[in-house]
Amino acid sequence: MDPRLVPLRRRFPMVADLERRARWRIPRFAFDFLQGGAGDETGMPRNRRALQAVEVMPRYGVKVSDVDPSADLFGHRYAAPVGIAPIGFDGIMWPGATRAFAEAAQALNLPYMVGTLATETIETVAALAPDVTWFQLYPLAAEDHRMTFDLADRAERAGARVLAATLDVPARTKRPRDMRNGFGMPFRLTASLLAQAAVAWPWSLAIARHGIPTFANIVPYSGPGRDVTAAFVGKHVGGGFDWEALARLRDRWPRAMMVKGVMHPEDAEKAVALGIDGVVVSNHGGRQFDAAPASADVLPLVVAAVGDRATVMLDSGVTAGVDVLRALALGARGVLAGRAFMLSLAALGDIGARHMGGAFIEELSLAMGQSGVTRVEDIPTLATRHPGAWSLS
Ligand SMILES: Cc1cc2nc3c(=O)[nH]c(=O)nc-3n(C[C@H](O)[C@H](O)[C@H](O)COP(=O)(O)O)c2cc1C
Repeated sequence: MDPRLVPLRRRFPMVADLERRARWRIPRFAFDFLQGGAGDETGMPRNRRALQAVEVMPRYGVKVSDVDPSADLFGHRYAAPVGIAPIGFDGIMWPGATRAFAEAAQALNLPYMVGTLATETIETVAALAPDVTWFQLYPLAAEDHRMTFDLADRAERAGARVLAATLDVPARTKRPRDMRNGFGMPFRLTASLLAQAAVAWPWSLAIARHGIPTFANIVPYSGPGRDVTAAFVGKHVGGGFDWEALARLRDRWPRAMMVKGVMHPEDAEKAVALGIDGVVVSNHGGRQFDAAPASADVLPLVVAAVGDRATVMLDSGVTAGVDVLRALALGARGVLAGRAFMLSLAALGDIGARHMGGAFIEELSLAMGQSGVTRVEDIPTLATRHPGAWSLS
């Protein structure tokens, strides 16, 4: 382990410790963009509570000296079934974030699902993380998929292993913190945002090093210039994929393909019927639809619907290795974490991505030892109690 990480593990054992430090190191508008949600922001705590309510029955008397947290996802063995979730405009929360995620993911052998709205190109990310890059796709100008398909083709040429089309942003949403802060698209450093930036000196120094971030993947479609690109994103990016567009994308993409942001088991069924290989059960971390169920609470329905026909992953609310164990005990094959990784960068700088990834691997091993399983594949055999589980009947 990198010797710099040892004291960090002791000082910041939980994501809440990172959150406290991130709060003063980055400007308020950036912190609020990261930690905020839609509407009354009930979705985020609901995600956490739902996961925390899942109990896993430990088995004792098993030799657990050789716990192995590694896991197979889409034909590659990763150090643990924990990926970095796509975070749009990540560079505004920590300048240089996309590179830091890519380098950490490659070094740790964890999947990195880099986003359409990341602040480095898919080509740069795939070069930094050739073994572990996955690509998240948003529709660009949904009325004509030429640009969207071009971006998918670029991801394929760059060598992304998995393509994930995001479904759960069908319409705009309302995030009150961003409205109050005057944080929107195109992003402009107004006097009030500048004042927030001035006190967050670690962030300001990082901006001085990296420059104001831009939506690097979008530049070829919008034309150059930060404002032009941001205006293009504000106007043309977003809107969910419909099933017809997904079918065309499936025909085009030759490797493993996922849909991200599935809640209803019938939507998961539809994806499988199109030949899609995996679904991420997710409510976008509570950022889109405040009334959505917690992803953990619908996970068993989706797992039951797709069975062995697709790889089910979960995100929204995962902050520790024990959450990974909980999700896997409910039938997920892996998880993604968004805010946990981003907070770690904001709190600790570039090394934060390694801190968080390493913590997940280590904590999953501990949780496996505590519950009496030595291989990730055996976690689903553990008995669970899940009081919040959804039923549709
Ligand atoms: C600041 C921020 C930006 C995000 N941007 C994207 C995005 O561009 N594309 C996407 O599919 N999901 C995006 N997400 C959702 C994450 O990929 C993931 O689903 C979510 O963060 C999981 O919840 P968690 O933060 O509780 O781990 C974003 C999340 C955050 C916090």
